[in-house]
Amino acid sequence: MPSLLVATLFGYLLGSIPFGLVICRLAGLGDIRAIGSGNIGATNVLRTGRKGLALATFLGDALKGTVAILIARHFAGEGAAMAAAVGAFLGHVFPVWLRFKGGKGVATYIGCLLGLWWPAAFAFGAVWLAMAFVFRISSLAALTASAVVPVGLWLGGWASGTLALVLVALALLVWIRHEPNLRRLVAGTEPKIGGGKKKDA
Ligand code: G3P
Repeated sequence: MPSLLVATLFGYLLGSIPFGLVICRLAGLGDIRAIGSGNIGATNVLRTGRKGLALATFLGDALKGTVAILIARHFAGEGAAMAAAVGAFLGHVFPVWLRFKGGKGVATYIGCLLGLWWPAAFAFGAVWLAMAFVFRISSLAALTASAVVPVGLWLGGWASGTLALVLVALALLVWIRHEPNLRRLVAGTEPKIGGGKKKDA
């Protein structure tokens, strides 16, 4: 039990590093929360027009989840790996450094899938890419993948017990965090990938 708590806390601290915010500040772009959707994630960093920075943000936000899981698994086994995944995801979404106002969790969710069961991360990527190719809307692609993949893994028997519960619960949080996006999707005002830099209403 103490190892689960330590793993969760360790994951949380790693997950709470806001890569998008740090990378944009280092690049002299100021506060990423002042542009586009106001989110600190890679999709919003892409709205600055800096593809390299968006890629770096995606990798940082994803791999912090993967690294937390791999380290926790190495020292304390599979239960700790899942605890670290939950911690890293919550750290990204509710980071202590940003008064608990963090990102929407998509990249970190992918990184957690990669660490927990890597084929699931590729399944997520495939669904995301297919949806993004057809509709060119990042949030719609993320929402679809975060619904289809965990439920598919669970129903298909690839994930069961605690793992299925963790993946479904975190995906639910991804959906909750996309509440403004869902409103814009319904209203037909959600920006497409490659859209402008203006702060959304
Ligand atoms: O990964 C976040 C994406 O799904 C939505 O980002 O900036 O359009 O709210 P954004």
